[in-house]
Amino acid sequence: MPRILIAGCGYVGQATADLFHAAGWAVEGWTLSGESAAKLAAKPYPVYGVDITDRAQIATHAGVFNAVIHCASSGGGDADTYRQTYLNGARNLLDRFGGSRMLFTSSTSVYAQRDACWVTEESQTEPGRETGRVSLETEELVLGRGGIVSRLAGVYGPRRSALLSKFLAGEAIVDPGNDRFVNQVHRDDIAAALFLLLNRPSLSREIYNVVDDQPILQSECYHWLAEKLNRPLPPLGKREGERKRGDSNKRVSNAKLRRLGWSLRYPRFAEAMEKSILPSFAPFILNRSH
Ligand SMILES: NC(=O)c1ccc[n+]([C@@H]2O[C@H](COP(=O)([O-])OP(=O)(O)OC[C@H]3O[C@@H](n4cnc5c(N)ncnc54)[C@H](OP(=O)(O)O)[C@@H]3O)[C@@H](O)[C@H]2O)c1
Repeated sequence: MPRILIAGCGYVGQATADLFHAAGWAVEGWTLSGESAAKLAAKPYPVYGVDITDRAQIATHAGVFNAVIHCASSGGGDADTYRQTYLNGARNLLDRFGGSRMLFTSSTSVYAQRDACWVTEESQTEPGRETGRVSLETEELVLGRGGIVSRLAGVYGPRRSALLSKFLAGEAIVDPGNDRFVNQVHRDDIAAALFLLLNRPSLSREIYNVVDDQPILQSECYHWLAEKLNRPLPPLGKREGERKRGDSNKRVSNAKLRRLGWSLRYPRFAEAMEKSILPSFAPFILNRSH
């Protein structure tokens, strides 16, 4: 039975762990805190609190894994936090599990293009922020040691959608002078992508964008939500401040992963919203109705 370590058993990590478990892999999950691990006690695989930034903690965890996924998240934070969680975390995992195939979940925020162009894995990566540069450094480390990098678009899925949360909270604005493409991907499609990548034994030193088929203008998302939920459109206005994931405007291509045979349950925003996300937000939507 192949064995996999999910280092960062959070939103994406749990869905991925569940999928590998269902497919017959022996799964072990790690979280940062013991409390988070304890909340996952009902999972059919063990989850432990192990801090990947702490080499001593990792060393006490014996185990041989065919594959290791680094999908721990810094939860935002500054460049130092990124460096700890992503770069040092990856280095510690690579040093401890040198014989395992390593996959790192990076981010499409490494593409800083602003002209709404399509970007592929070959496109330039010149992130304007130090945090983006740390992500790139981590990618280079993992690729240099024979690993795989997946660049995830904005993650959404059951009970998680930044756009919908903003819309429902009345915090959304439509800024026609500053509209931009939103690149997203459903949590379950990410899990399927990671499963596909780690089940291709010959893959190494490769980067794959993990994003759905349809980059969509932010204003279109809000129009769609307003119509679907029968609510007013967010007000017109000018967005202030920097975006969490950078001020880029690009359309991220998934053609490389598609060529590998990845198929999506939620290829477009509307399908993901209708079939998965809106139902999971139903109590919240009802509470907020008019
Ligand atoms: N969310 C997005 O839109 C997005 C977009 C692009 C890329 N990504 C990447 O996708 C990955 C997964 O994101 P997510 O949304 O699933 O994150 P998440 O829900 O916040 O979960 C993060 C998990 O990592 C664990 N963790 C954090 N620091 C750790 C450490 N030092 N050692 C061990 N475990 C640690 C957390 O444990 P605790 O619960 O104990 O804190 C939690 O289980 C991350 O690498 C993230 O950067 C996310």
